[in-house]
Amino acid sequence: MTMSLTELFIKQYQLCGLTDKETVGVIYELGKKTEYVEAAVAAARSLGAGALVLGASSLSNPTLPPYTSDGREVPALLAGAGNCDLVIDVTVGGLIHSSVRTNITGQGKRMLFVAEPADVLERLMGDDTLRRDVDAAAEILKGGKVMKVTSAAGTHLTYDIASPDLPITRQWGFVDEPGRWDHWPSGFIACFPRDRSANGQIVLQPGDVVIPWQRIIQTPVTLTVKDGFITEITGEGPEAFLLRDYFARWNDPEVYALSHAGWGMHPMASWTALDVYDPRSLYGQELRSVAGNFMWSTGSNRFANRETPAHLDIPMRGCTVMIDDRAVVVDGQLQCMTEALAA
Ligand SMILES: [Fe+2]
Repeated sequence: MTMSLTELFIKQYQLCGLTDKETVGVIYELGKKTEYVEAAVAAARSLGAGALVLGASSLSNPTLPPYTSDGREVPALLAGAGNCDLVIDVTVGGLIHSSVRTNITGQGKRMLFVAEPADVLERLMGDDTLRRDVDAAAEILKGGKVMKVTSAAGTHLTYDIASPDLPITRQWGFVDEPGRWDHWPSGFIACFPRDRSANGQIVLQPGDVVIPWQRIIQTPVTLTVKDGFITEITGEGPEAFLLRDYFARWNDPEVYALSHAGWGMHPMASWTALDVYDPRSLYGQELRSVAGNFMWSTGSNRFANRETPAHLDIPMRGCTVMIDDRAVVVDGQLQCMTEALAA
């Protein structure tokens, strides 16, 4: 059965533990994704909760330069949203890397970004099993010192994750704890390794994906990584050329930095989503969440005070991910579901 957007928001609010004593705040950009706004409000009202809608003139960053950060509307937005209990972000780009997010969650409020088409929201709706698996993976990361990634295609990469304060992003697609942010739908674990600690080589192979371009790699690309930065990009096909061009356009050495790294854990997420759907209708959460992917990223990293809208997420297939001596992904197959841990 296909559920309506309003029915989906009702189910999501129930996962988030929304009560009739609470108020939902919906942040959107004027004239954009209005069907999500209406569904978010209707669902809140049907559960007896309040709903406040906050429309900004624009909050999304450009996908190519030029870029100047524009925060004029942010204080007023925070004043409104900060008084809500559950903030739904339906802006086009999402306030993922913004101070709006850290400010709202810093006040103990829950915040959820929503961008995917309705049937993706429905098919990948989170549940307690996924939550438990992601939490268990977070425990593995917490105790780790080195993340090592290899593949038959030639990837060999290490990150230092030994910090006792390692920032860990646990995403299961709903916000059931005070101060929690998530993106519906999600199913992955990631961390921000020590800045400038990544070293080695990444070999993208056909079938890997570049988000937010929503592009499936067709020809191999080799990226050399030294002390946390991409220093060389080689390959004969269009993707090597496009990656070189993209990074160069920003005219900013910081965009070459590696950012978060982790692996997908959602049993229902599929690599074929980019072919089954119109790729540009997707935000890419399904590819980020495919169980057993290795996902690394570039650019923006609030834990390293690196602010840039140049941020690529790159899920890769067929990798082996080791946390110290423990294999969490082997040749693209997830090894660390809770059932496996208990065995
Ligand atoms: Fe990312």
